[in-house]
Amino acid sequence: MKILFVCLGNICRSPAAEGVFLHQLVERELNEHFVVDSAGTGGWHVGNPADRRMQAAANRRGIQLPSCARQISLDDLSEFDLILTMDDANLAAVTSLASEAGRRATAKIKPILSYTSQFSETEVPDPYYGGEEGFEHVLDLLENACSNLLDDLSPPA
Ligand code: 4NP
Repeated sequence: MKILFVCLGNICRSPAAEGVFLHQLVERELNEHFVVDSAGTGGWHVGNPADRRMQAAANRRGIQLPSCARQISLDDLSEFDLILTMDDANLAAVTSLASEAGRRATAKIKPILSYTSQFSETEVPDPYYGGEEGFEHVLDLLENACSNLLDDLSPPA
């Protein structure tokens, strides 16, 4: 199964989601069954690694962020099975790209926080202009949502 996480810049939230999900896949020995990537709806940071504050917060939890920023393309709508967006603006941008791609757009598109069970928020807040606690909160949201996502995708035999 191929999963793409999407945010605006592809340097904070979606690289964190990618790293958290990859970490949980390894923990559950499921990594051979998934292809995981992340992308941004904007192109300002193309080629950049994840924001160093996001990397530091993830590393404190034993999570690595392997991402190199790229912008989402029309091909992603047919290449991936599931596209998970971080906020309403990302969802609108990816949905609009899907209408542009027409019948080629086979990916399911969903907000990542549709999978959260512990938080009432519907959007992962952009931590870029805030303090350290914003990056921790992003990881709290993503760890809960990714764990439930994985439960959903791999029900116990
Ligand atoms: P992200 O955060 O969407 O979580 O990667 C952002 C980081 C930088 C910018 C926008 C969003 N920016 O415009 O520079």
